[in-house]
Amino acid sequence: MANAMITGWGKCMPEAVLSNHDLEQIVDTSDEWITTRTGIKERRISHAEVSDMSAVAGAHALAAAGKTAADLDLIIVGTCTGDSLIPSTASLVQAKLEAWQAGAFDVNAACSGFIYSLVIGSNMIAAGTHRTVLVIGAEKLHYHLDFTNRATAVLFGDGAGAVVLEATDEDVGLLASELGMDGSAASILCIPEHGTSGDRRNPDPRESGINMDGPEVFRRAVTTMGDASVRVLEKAGISLDDIGLLIPHQANVRIIDATARRLKLDPAKVMINIESYGNTSAATIPVALTEALESHRIEPGAIIVLAAFGAGLSWGAAVIRWGQRVEPLGTSAAALPPNNRSTMDLLAPNLEFFGHLASS
Ligand code: UT7
Repeated sequence: MANAMITGWGKCMPEAVLSNHDLEQIVDTSDEWITTRTGIKERRISHAEVSDMSAVAGAHALAAAGKTAADLDLIIVGTCTGDSLIPSTASLVQAKLEAWQAGAFDVNAACSGFIYSLVIGSNMIAAGTHRTVLVIGAEKLHYHLDFTNRATAVLFGDGAGAVVLEATDEDVGLLASELGMDGSAASILCIPEHGTSGDRRNPDPRESGINMDGPEVFRRAVTTMGDASVRVLEKAGISLDDIGLLIPHQANVRIIDATARRLKLDPAKVMINIESYGNTSAATIPVALTEALESHRIEPGAIIVLAAFGAGLSWGAAVIRWGQRVEPLGTSAAALPPNNRSTMDLLAPNLEFFGHLASS
């Protein structure tokens, strides 16, 4: 049975920055509140689509793996904010990369989408049906943000990250995983009115932004991410002392700290970049993984724990043994098309839409 080794990694973070101070101009909030309650200082706003960011991150991951798009036999995109309902974002990514030999599909597990996708890709390699899989986590969450609602407007951002999985006989890759769900609590984090449950005769577009009971999601995330991480480590037969790096979903630095405490981890073994990007849902883990490699925080053969929690309510945890190579084999010049609009300009359609609804 083949193992699935991560051989390439990459990210695509759009240039436009929305700082906490910028948000103070839009909604009743403060840099102090956002920083102390969440750890976020700024986030990115994309002028391009999820498939564009995905393709750029994917091209960087392929270059790091020393592969081309022609080598891919599968593309999985974890996203809950894809370009359209159909086709899937993965199909658009396949075309943008010209990965004509690859099957492609999306996975919607919200913030747990990358872990779900990584586990699916790894298990398809283990099953022998696929050998080279591109796994992407990508979101354009700002599209769904009501910037008149301070409870959610300050939390989310846009971006994409990707990894290449390759079949290998080496004892590396996914050692154990858990994919969990509590659908009975789905309504505490949702975007209503974007599917067939919407009432066309009596639409209530005021509810179309992200709805979240923050404190309840917080409470559940704190216990679930830590407990699931402990369970996957036990399943893999790995002790807490052997963890090289925890790469958690970046939703709130207080949730990350609680997860690290549950694993009795030294803060030096926890990857945190939430201050720069906020919560990019399925993108947080592959982006943080890429930045961990860029900053030389992953040692050859390291044990890495991934944990996430999000809408569904979904969660995922995984233990990975890294391979020997921690440097990319190559680089790519792939980039988003140039953006000549200011951040406020990019937010204008959104402010107009939700502002109009608030005053109607
Ligand atoms: O990706 C997975 C899904 N998401 C998450 O995991 C997020 C989980 N939840 C959280 O991270 C936190 O619950 C939040 C960051 C969303 C909120 O933090 P909190 O400490 O739970 O605050 P709260 O909602 O209990 O609100 C406390 C106070 C309230 O004021 P009062 O009633 O005490 O006067 C809020 O109105 O903070 C107020 N508040 C704000 N003030 C300034 C809420 N949002 C803001 C804001 N700026 N943006």
